[in-house]
Parts: sequence; C-alpha cells; structure tokens
Amino acid sequence: MKIENRTFLVSGGASGLGRATVIDLHSKGANVAILDLNQSLADEVIAETSASKVRFFKTDVTSSEEVAASVKAAAEWADSAKAPFGGIVAAAGVGNPALIYGKRGPLDLDGFKFVLDVNLIGTVDLVRNGLEYLTKVDPEEPDGERGVVIMVASAAAYEGQSGQTAYSASKGAIVSMTLPMARDLSRYGIRVMTLAPSMFDSPMTEVMPEKVKESLVRSMEFPKRPGKPHEFSQVVISCIESSMLNGEVIRLDGASRMPARL
Ligand SMILES: NC(=O)c1ccc[n+]([C@@H]2O[C@H](COP(=O)([O-])OP(=O)(O)OC[C@H]3O[C@@H](n4cnc5c(N)ncnc54)[C@H](O)[C@@H]3O)[C@@H](O)[C@H]2O)c1
Repeated sequence: MKIENRTFLVSGGASGLGRATVIDLHSKGANVAILDLNQSLADEVIAETSASKVRFFKTDVTSSEEVAASVKAAAEWADSAKAPFGGIVAAAGVGNPALIYGKRGPLDLDGFKFVLDVNLIGTVDLVRNGLEYLTKVDPEEPDGERGVVIMVASAAAYEGQSGQTAYSASKGAIVSMTLPMARDLSRYGIRVMTLAPSMFDSPMTEVMPEKVKESLVRSMEFPKRPGKPHEFSQVVISCIESSMLNGEVIRLDGASRMPARL
C-alpha cells in the first residue's frame, strides 16, 4: 500500500519506537496523528518534521472518551487535508515490572490491571475507533486495499522474564489477537500485523540498570546490541508497503531468547 498522502494514527508517537515511526512515515509523505500523553515530546517531533503534516492529539489511551474524540478529530483533519486514513500503529505502552509474589506479598491487582489497560485495552480501543473510519476509505487498486493495523507486542509475549507477568499477559494477548483480527478485517481490505521487539534503545529501556541491559544484550545472537528505533520503524514501513504481510507477528530480536532472570 502506498504511504504518501495517507493519514496514520500513531499512539505513543511522542517517544521511542512510536516517534521513529512518525518520523519515517512523515519522510515517506504521510500525514501523521500522534496520540500520546506527552505534549512536550510531541512538540519536539513536530518541530523535527512539519506542523502541517504531523499533529498532536493529547490522548490517554486508557480513556475511551479521549480515544474516540482524538480519532474523530484526526479523521476530520484527514478529510480536510484530503489525506485519507491509511493505518493505525498502536505503540503506546508501559512496562511496570512486578513479581506475582514477592517480599511485599502478592502482586497488586490494580498495578496488573493498569498494564493491561494501557497495553491491551488501549490498543484494542484505538484500533476499533480507527476502524470506524479506515473501513470507509476508498479502496486502493489492484487489491482493494484500505489500510493496515500494526500492533506492538514484545519478545516478552513468548519468554517473559521474572517480573513480567502483567507485561507478558498484555503482549501475549496482542500476539493472539493478530490472526483473528486479520480474519475479521479481510473483507474490508485491511491487513493486521504485530511487531515483537526485544530490547530497543528508547526512554523505556534507558531507565533499566546497566546490569539488566548487559544481560539482555548477552542473550542476543547477532547483532549483539539493542535495536535502534529506526530499525523498528523500517519494519513498520515494510508492513505497510508489502501487501502479502498479514495476520503475522514479526520478532525483531537479533535471534535472542530472553533469559529467565536479569
Ligand atoms: N523499547 C523496547 O525495548 C521495547 C521492547 C518490546 C516492546 N516494546 C513496546 O514498544 C512500544 C513503544 O515502547 P518504547 O520503547 O518506544 O517506549 P517509550 O516509553 O519511549 O514510549 C511509549 C510512549 O507511550 C506513551 N504512553 C504511555 N502510556 C500512555 C497512555 N496511557 N496513553 C497514551 N500514551 C501513552 C508515552 O507517553 C510514550 O510517548 C510499547 O508498547 C512497548 O511495550 C518496547
């Protein structure tokens, strides 16, 4: 599918992997709506790209009202810019590690629900709201394609480490949703892909202790280093441009398998 002159919704687009995605989509001629909590980081992205092609819609993805309002406002912008919706990249996420049972007793259930709310429910809510508009754009020839949904899981969906019960639950669900969603959306000419990175450089991993990062790098086969945000967004671009990619999860992990403990 062509990226130029289409509008993409990117949650978490103010930082890290989402930010690189916004920059690369913009460089390919797209309009991009950043749905994120962080106004100041989004302003930096807009300054680096273009205020007419990249807009910020302040959104907490755990608020269904905010998600619906931001997607509607982005759809109105897409209409007025004559750049129809082309896809949704759901990259907003939180880590928040916690043991299922530790020195302080059992896992705090509210903490568990928070991770699920942001990573899983926030993803589903963004996707379902975006589809209200994406399913109605004119299909592109020759296949009748309307757009692409890209979700972000993690290597922790497969081999979550100690402390990742909530995170792995949220990311495992995203992996599991990929195929049924692709099946639901095939009649509309909309594809669904999920990316599952291991450790990538971003503000999320910047706060990890050096020992933890070293242990994750040791688990990598090649290359032995964290991924770079643009190596993630490159694959987002491929998922959009390559029409045979559908209903699948791509691991971006240098052939690593995460160790049980850090
Ligand atoms: N960096 C990694 O190593 C890595 C590995 C695997 C998966 N991931 C996943 O990739 C995605 C992006 O992570 P990142 O590394 O770029 O992290 P990041 O912290 O740099 O960016 C996350 C963005 O999500 C936004 N966000 C958080 N909660 C939100 C909410 N409730 N509503 C709206 N926006 C919210 C933040 O403001 C931030 O801009 C996440 O889903 C993360 O789980 C990251």
